[in-house]
Amino acid sequence: MRKKVVVGNWKMNKTKQEAVQLTTDVLDMLNNTGSIACDVVFAPPFPFMDSINDLISAKNGMFLAAQDCSKHEKGSFTGEVSAKITQSMGANYIIIGHSERRAFFKEDNATLIEKITRCTAAQLVPIFCCGEEAADRESGKHLEVIEQQISEVLLCFSAQELNNVIIAYEPVWSIGTGNTASPEIAQEMHQFIRSIIEKKFGEEFANNTSILYGGSCNAANSKELFSKPDIDGGLIGGASLVAQDFVSIIRNCAN
Ligand code: PGA
Repeated sequence: MRKKVVVGNWKMNKTKQEAVQLTTDVLDMLNNTGSIACDVVFAPPFPFMDSINDLISAKNGMFLAAQDCSKHEKGSFTGEVSAKITQSMGANYIIIGHSERRAFFKEDNATLIEKITRCTAAQLVPIFCCGEEAADRESGKHLEVIEQQISEVLLCFSAQELNNVIIAYEPVWSIGTGNTASPEIAQEMHQFIRSIIEKKFGEEFANNTSILYGGSCNAANSKELFSKPDIDGGLIGGASLVAQDFVSIIRNCAN
């Protein structure tokens, strides 16, 4: 079933103490709200996954994600963290193909395919990120670029392997810039992404796939973004580091 989802991607921020405090604050604020009609996913740095899982694992609708995983299954890869290791720490999801990984760590489509393979083998669900650069949009190639990112990676898998997959549309020009995509631009792209998924996997699969928006999504603009029919929630960076802001976004998604 298509779910509303808000994911907090903390990236390389917070100490362990700050991470525990942030999570405790978010949970306290949400407790005062009663039940929340949207899934909340925490994606802390690897070393804090255990501590955050201890805080959220007993809560309904709260899940843990890894921000990345190795393309290798296991072995002598110093510094790497496998999908299976994250699964053993309580992860339900792994973010794959974030634009920062693509740009700074030169992750190409072949790498992303390997990572999704590890992810699904560990029975984890990928949160697959895609998004165009500013220059792609300026030259009118944004649809083409997204279609290519999806078809060269996600469409290499079967519907069964991608069961419950989450897709995050994150235009690179909007990440961490304060330059949020307008709800109309985001909706156009989400609808397009759903149509690509539908062509390959059919209407039912496409209708059940959650497509999240990411890129300077915050407490003030999330309500309007989430009101669009094909926007099922958000992948939140900066605003997920502030408890009150993250909780406001969650409430905007759940309403
Ligand atoms: P941002 O990051 O919300 O800080 O723009 C989003 C992301 O990178 O997932």
